Amino acid sequence: MDVLHISDVRETGASVKLRGWVHRKRVSGGIAFIVIRDRTGTIQVAVKKDGVDPESWRAAEAVTVESSVEVNGIVKADPRAPTGYEVQASSFSSTAISEPYPITEYQSTELLLDKRHLWLRSQGMTAVMRARSYVFRHAREFLDGQEFFEVTPPVITSAGGETGADLFEVDYFGKKAYLTESSQLYAEAMIFSLERVYSFVPSFRAEKSRTTKHLAEYWHLEPEMAYFDNEMNMKLQEGLISHIATKLASEHGDVLKVLNVDRASLERIKPPFKRLSYEDAISILNGKGFKLKWGDDLGVEEERAITADEDKPIFICNWPKEIKPFYMPINPDDPRTVVCSDMQAPHGHGEIIGGSERIWKYEELIARMREVEKAKGVKFNMDNYGWWIDLRRYGSVPHAGFGMGIERVIKWMLNLDHIRDAIPFPRMSNRLEP
Ligand code: 4AD
Ligand code: MG
Repeated sequence: MDVLHISDVRETGASVKLRGWVHRKRVSGGIAFIVIRDRTGTIQVAVKKDGVDPESWRAAEAVTVESSVEVNGIVKADPRAPTGYEVQASSFSSTAISEPYPITEYQSTELLLDKRHLWLRSQGMTAVMRARSYVFRHAREFLDGQEFFEVTPPVITSAGGETGADLFEVDYFGKKAYLTESSQLYAEAMIFSLERVYSFVPSFRAEKSRTTKHLAEYWHLEPEMAYFDNEMNMKLQEGLISHIATKLASEHGDVLKVLNVDRASLERIKPPFKRLSYEDAISILNGKGFKLKWGDDLGVEEERAITADEDKPIFICNWPKEIKPFYMPINPDDPRTVVCSDMQAPHGHGEIIGGSERIWKYEELIARMREVEKAKGVKFNMDNYGWWIDLRRYGSVPHAGFGMGIERVIKWMLNLDHIRDAIPFPRMSNRLEP
């Protein structure tokens, strides 16, 4: 007989075979009531001492919470059961008996993180991990539908593309190397053959700050497009975010329900998203009582205040050049700023996307790098950046791109308290195991 999933058990009187793990168990009056769990949900199995062979009864008596089991039985309607059905066992066996399970009902957050490899079996985490997989699927599906190619950059690199301050160093055969903090520079190299590309691999940031939105290793979706300007870049971002949100709402309502996520809140995520300039953002925030000066970056409190009343993400565009990376072009309409946009999730979930046009002309790039060196008292190592600057020497074209932190998106869309719950095995400054 084929093995069914619990969610497919819906025909009274049918003979079924199920496999799963023991969620709860109670024995009373010659009947073992065993709730089993598989990836689709839970169902109660009733094993009657006088309804099964002695071996099945011994197995039912012996199983413990989280033991793996197999059951054959007949489906019965049960209006009190969560799925409306239960299974009357005709035979029951355990695949492996579980030792006493270390996770019981009330546990500290730290214990649950220490036992992450087991906690992943909880209903909540199972739902989040399913949703995470759907977010990955629909993100790729959207870009694939827009004529993108997925490309695979190296993860071990000789230089960073962002601040460079948060790089993880690795010993590369005696030479200093780093885990990538962004794959942008490599994605840029590939637009000259493939035109629209995205890479979707982890980025690494040695962030010491312990916040609810920083991971040391996160999955970074980085599209890069030839001939795109910043407006086209933002349109693509809106399209991507709304595709993911509306697909979650329309196709994965069962998972949203487990997580108490309001479907309507995701259905609302439709373009266009509001566009504010950095300057507008500063004056709105100062109107709310902040005391920000031109050139200040936005922190957690500022991000929360500016998105508190928003139902959809917003763009904050054209930031001061001093607080953005060297590859962003100066804004001709206001040379204090660069042509870029950050997307902020609503309700204070923070920045989910950073994007910009890229300086694509050789002389302009060199001049800007010299300017940054002077302003910051740093020196770019041309051994590291030479190849990337080279791209501007051989038939360069205008281009733009962005980076989206997938765990930030998941945290926001599923309304999670902490980014660590958006990834199975979080890496943070204070956590490397499991
Ligand atoms: O704003 P960032 O640093 O931009 C870049 O790395 C660009 N090179 C991207 C590009 O244009 N290709 O990072 C992009 C996004 C952020 O908006 C945020 O969503 C996420 O990456 N992110 C993090 N997510 C989790 N933990 C961290 N420590 C993160 N740092 C950035
Ligand atoms: Mg950023």
